[in-house]
Order: sequence, then C-alpha cells, then structure tokens
Amino acid sequence: MKILIKEKDILKKVKEFGKQLNHDYENSNPILIGVLKGAFVFMADLLREIEIPIEVDFLSIHSYDGKKSSGVVRITHDLSLNIEDRAVILVEDIIDTGRTINYIMENLKTRKPRSLAICALLNKKDNRVMNVRLKYVGFEIPNVFVVGYGLDYSNKYRNLRYIGVADDE
Ligand code: IMP
Ligand code: MG
Repeated sequence: MKILIKEKDILKKVKEFGKQLNHDYENSNPILIGVLKGAFVFMADLLREIEIPIEVDFLSIHSYDGKKSSGVVRITHDLSLNIEDRAVILVEDIIDTGRTINYIMENLKTRKPRSLAICALLNKKDNRVMNVRLKYVGFEIPNVFVVGYGLDYSNKYRNLRYIGVADDE
C-alpha cells in the first residue's frame, strides 16, 4: 500500500475544517449529514473539532460496485431528522464523478433546507461528469483509487489511519 495522505496531514486538515465551520456556522445550529459508509471516520473526527451547537445525522447510499461508478445511486437508509429550514452540511469522503453527491443534493433540496453546503475530504476532479459546487474541500487528488480513513475497496481497508493507493493501481 502506497501512502498518499499521511494521518497527521489528514488530522491537520480536519482541524482547519473545524475552525472554519465554527466561524461560518456560528449561531446557525447546523445539521451535519454524513454519507455512509465512507464518511463515518471523517465525520467522527470532524464533529469533535466543532465547538458550536450541531446535530448529526446519516444517510446511506449505494452507488459503487468495486472500483467502478455504476452511475446508479439509491438511498438505502434515509435521514431521521427533519432538515426543513435548517443549515445543512453534507459530509462526504470523496467526490469522483459527482453523481452521488449530485443525486443527494437534488434529493435534499426538495426538503427545503435553509442552506445546503458540501464538505468533502477528497476531490478527484478528472472523472467529474456532474457540475457540483464544493464549499469545503480537503485535498485535490489524482485519478487513482484510494482507500483508508473510511474509504474502502470491496469493503476492506476502511480502518487505515492514512489514505493510500491500493497496490494494483
Ligand atoms: P461519485 O458518484 O463518482 O462521485 O462517487 C462517489 C462515491 O464513490 C464516494 O462517496 C465513494 O464512496 C466512492 N469512491 C469514489 N472514488 C473512490 C476511491 O478512490 N476510493 C474509494 N471509494 C471511492
Ligand atoms: Mg461515499
């Protein structure tokens, strides 16, 4: 496994996100929505850097088979909170083609949140097919398949503390 982003660089970035969100969402009691499963590690670290009042929820989607984007996205577990008139921050591990986040954004918009922003740890721009506006981005990465820190390859490697590139890349 080749290391692409070290644990200490990830944690430094997460701290920066926390500071930024404390500032940008002061007095707005936002809801952080994590996209499962990939975002759960990032979410766990991120929310502990946030000092303003927040609420947390998750939704689960299915979009990927192994390494290929199927282009088919569905919600397999929905939110439990009502997001109408709330400030919402969507927390994602990685944006690749943009299909997943685009589908989720369109779906959440119909529930009339007051605001809706994306916070993505990784951005893989080369494969983008949907136009998405990312308010907070951690790292721009090349078009390689990455694992670790919540990201998987066939459900493995989510437990790695760093972000790595699988050996067969
Ligand atoms: P998109 O719909 O193509 O933007 O894909 C987004 C989703 O695919 C992410 O939420 C990840 O779950 C998964 N994904 C995309 N690229 C990678 C990768 O390099 N490693 C692991 N998962 C990935
Ligand atoms: Mg994901």
